[in-house]
Amino acid sequence: MNLNRLIISITGASGVIYGKRLVEVLADTEYHIHLTLSEAAQVTLQEESDVHVDLDRFRMEDFIGRAASNIEYHHIGDIAASICSGSYITEGMVVIPCSMGTLAAISMGLANNLIERAADVCIKQRRPLVIVPRETPLSTIHLENMLRLSQLGVCVMPAMPGYYHRPQNIQGQVDFMVSKVLDFFGISNQLIQRWRGG
Ligand SMILES: Cc1cc2nc3c(=O)[nH]c(=O)nc-3n(C[C@H](O)[C@H](O)[C@H](O)COP(=O)(O)O)c2cc1C
Repeated sequence: MNLNRLIISITGASGVIYGKRLVEVLADTEYHIHLTLSEAAQVTLQEESDVHVDLDRFRMEDFIGRAASNIEYHHIGDIAASICSGSYITEGMVVIPCSMGTLAAISMGLANNLIERAADVCIKQRRPLVIVPRETPLSTIHLENMLRLSQLGVCVMPAMPGYYHRPQNIQGQVDFMVSKVLDFFGISNQLIQRWRGG
């Protein structure tokens, strides 16, 4: 079954631009996107890109500058949203960027908010889950949480852009990570110049 439903969650790690760019690329595509931002993501969005969104009255225009008919926003406190249930079938989920707090909560199965619950559902249903953690340096706690998730089948994809495609600016570095996420889900994209051999 391929319903083209994908969950994108943005948490309060630095690098909110990664999540924003992923949403921009998938806006107005055939994918039905379920989008949730944490309260801390609202803060980093403001701090890192001067974009202000209201989580209670969310408007795509505020977030990416335009409406997008295929994007369904869910408030992080909406624990009755469709994506809370395993019976609502999706292709999987991306947490981008993923804070160490949300990483820890997911690895322990806390399910205290919509992001943590949707990730928990993906793990229990054996659906693809990509975590894009951002922190440095990493403590043993962070590393152990990542190891636990990896052993559960979660794809841990740290925000570590490569440079072999010779990015000319920050956008080029961001697109490297976004391209990796899209590739994981088999979503065709030409965001970066791919390696063709030395
Ligand atoms: C500007 C800014 C940058 C931050 N960068 C990071 C980061 O890179 N990684 C991280 O784990 N937390 C970072 N934090 C802290 C998280 O936002 C904080 O732990 C928060 O409680 C995470 O909540 P959430 O997981 O619900 O989004 C940052 C906070 C701010 C305000």
